[in-house]
Amino acid sequence: MEILGIVGSYRKSGNTDILVQKVLEGVMNYGLDTNYIFLPDFNIKDCTGCERCKVGFKCVKKDDMQKLYPLIEKADAIVIGSPTYFYNVTGVTKNFLNRLYCYEIFDENDRSVWMGLNEVIGIKYAVTVAVCEQEREEDMGYTSLTLSKTIEAVGYRVIDNIKALHVYSKGDILNYEDELKHAILAGEKLAKTLMLREKVKSTKII
Ligand SMILES: Cc1cc2nc3c(=O)[nH]c(=O)nc-3n(C[C@H](O)[C@H](O)[C@H](O)COP(=O)(O)O)c2cc1C
Repeated sequence: MEILGIVGSYRKSGNTDILVQKVLEGVMNYGLDTNYIFLPDFNIKDCTGCERCKVGFKCVKKDDMQKLYPLIEKADAIVIGSPTYFYNVTGVTKNFLNRLYCYEIFDENDRSVWMGLNEVIGIKYAVTVAVCEQEREEDMGYTSLTLSKTIEAVGYRVIDNIKALHVYSKGDILNYEDELKHAILAGEKLAKTLMLREKVKSTKII
């Protein structure tokens, strides 16, 4: 089993990066494997709505997302984080999320009927991490919601949404004991969820 951490901040070792890594630390406390992607290291263009992915569920756009799709598909769970940039996720995070459109399936005749590919091949799990500078949650805007709604749409059950408020400078989050602890606990819960799934899989049901 493998959990993939995905960081959508441009600041390496910044607040989002630290929190995502803390979640992975929680996962590793239970001995599960982790992998890690720092999104700005990759050239990820936005989805252009060509709809060619609706045949075969593969995106045809030739950029670095083609390196990331196999990592996403291999992972049993993801931890995805973004800082707030004007009430929403960063540009690179939004491009990444939009490119998950290839994993969304629609009924040919009724587009109000849809599901995530993972609902067909096996549900996956996720933790989201959102960070913002202001103290009030409303100033985080849609950051957390954009992350969780998008990955739910492609078939992940989100087991925790971490929201760190009032964090500004790079690395400030290291002074926030409660948030760091929350991140580790979320990682441990993710690991325990996957272990429970394995246990149930090996149990004869009825
Ligand atoms: C372009 C830009 C827009 C921002 N917009 C917001 C905002 O709307 N609300 C907020 O609370 N913080 C905002 N921030 C502050 C960042 O979310 C905050 O500094 C965060 O800790 C950065 O996380 P990082 O270290 O993971 O990059 C903004 C920062 C930048 C650079």
